[in-house]
Amino acid sequence: MKDDLFQGRTYDDFLFRPQKGRVGSRQDVRLTGRFARGIVLELPIASANMDSVTEGPMARVMALEGGIGIIHRGMPIRQQAGEVERVKRSHGWVVEEPLCLPRDATLREAREATRRHGVTGILIEETRGSRVLAGILSKRDLPWGGGRESEPVERYMTPFDRLETRRPGVSLEEAERILYEHRIEKLPLVDEQRRIQGLITKSDIMLSRDRPDSTKGAKGRLCVGAAIGARGDFLERAEALLEAGADVLVMDIAHGHSEIMERAIKAVRDRFGEVELVCGNVGTGEGARFLRDLGVAGVKVGIGPGRGCRTRLETAAGVPQLQAIHEAWLAVGDQVPIIADGGVQNDKDLFLALVSGASSVMLGSLLSGTDEAPGRVIEDPATREKRKIYRGMTSPQAVFEALYDGAGHEEISLAMETPPEGQEIQVPYRGGVRDVLQRIRGHLRSAVSYAGEESLEAVRARVLERPDDYLIALSDASRRESYER
Ligand code: XMP
Repeated sequence: MKDDLFQGRTYDDFLFRPQKGRVGSRQDVRLTGRFARGIVLELPIASANMDSVTEGPMARVMALEGGIGIIHRGMPIRQQAGEVERVKRSHGWVVEEPLCLPRDATLREAREATRRHGVTGILIEETRGSRVLAGILSKRDLPWGGGRESEPVERYMTPFDRLETRRPGVSLEEAERILYEHRIEKLPLVDEQRRIQGLITKSDIMLSRDRPDSTKGAKGRLCVGAAIGARGDFLERAEALLEAGADVLVMDIAHGHSEIMERAIKAVRDRFGEVELVCGNVGTGEGARFLRDLGVAGVKVGIGPGRGCRTRLETAAGVPQLQAIHEAWLAVGDQVPIIADGGVQNDKDLFLALVSGASSVMLGSLLSGTDEAPGRVIEDPATREKRKIYRGMTSPQAVFEALYDGAGHEEISLAMETPPEGQEIQVPYRGGVRDVLQRIRGHLRSAVSYAGEESLEAVRARVLERPDDYLIALSDASRRESYER
């Protein structure tokens, strides 16, 4: 089934007709969506399973903010399971691997590190990489005047014997009490050998108290997903990921409407029963129906819209993303959540995806410039502009690195045999992902308010019933007027 309004259309093809507003405070606007049958998100966003987007740190913050992160599979099985464990272990208010500098680091390095990572203090270790706690250097310890930038941090830090520390298992209540009684902001966690095992900060505790909407599983731990393929070691990988505590598996292959996918889904079902299994990617109603009939917990939609993607250019295969989302919804309705994957460049695209049938949206490039995404910040020496690398998972660079890392599974070898359908680009550095998500949340709430409802779910239901009443297809001139700045 197709719908003429959506035929050949994607994000920049529409505006939303404003409705009479009735929201009191935008803070009250609910944005609830779903990633899989059993995974409800208060912020309907998933971070993409790509090696320049999601590993443990990204997945942790995504869940804290009410979304979910999907750990990529371009690494050996043990390592990927380790990333899942990291998220499951983190309580939200403990920094598991705090930033550290050695005693002999200079004040200049310390200032640079605090600025880059947006932290107010740094743990100091005895020697580089030893993780043995020597002290803390807080922003307040840094001298004001210039001229001392080459001096070592050990002269200014608060040394270990004057610090309050605790063992890793300390409870939240106990940590709060210590921070308050000593009027301090940081509590390092160390083992018997003084090795750093974590850091509790007042701001993280306050933050997690402020976040009742975090995505948490049955045991109150943060939710996390992890990707598997459909060939080679995928069953072994699935087993390790489930053991590590993954809440959802994402079977992610380029052409999900395929016999390979069908065999792989059946194999997962035979071995692991009713696990939450999201599958993709498909770009058509037939593809969505095919996955629904195989009993998946979520259908990932998007053939070729991604920023790191060259599939359409190289093969002509693809469906304009908003058409694909709507077609998928017409085919399966809300029997299974649809995840719109790829092509989101502006915040309004998320809103359009969600009111056209998606239950959540997966983001790659939009999140890849953040601190939590893997990879270093690159500074252009001429312009001082900061950037990070973002790359398609079948780009030559990502494939090479996965092989080099020893991922070596059959599928990557196969990818090497076919020409690349992914590419590497640089994206602007964006600071912490929390800020990016805050911005998106604000814009989504605003969009709901313009749409005259108090929840995204209500707008979605209305638009899906009569899309022509709400979506205005644009001419070239109106698109220029709207989106060219
Ligand atoms: P955005 O636009 O959010 O897209 O950056 C993220 C999605 O892009 C897909 N992806 C690829 N598609 N070749 C492709 O055809 C690739 O190499 C590639 N790598 C990522 C993927 O679905 C991701 O979630």
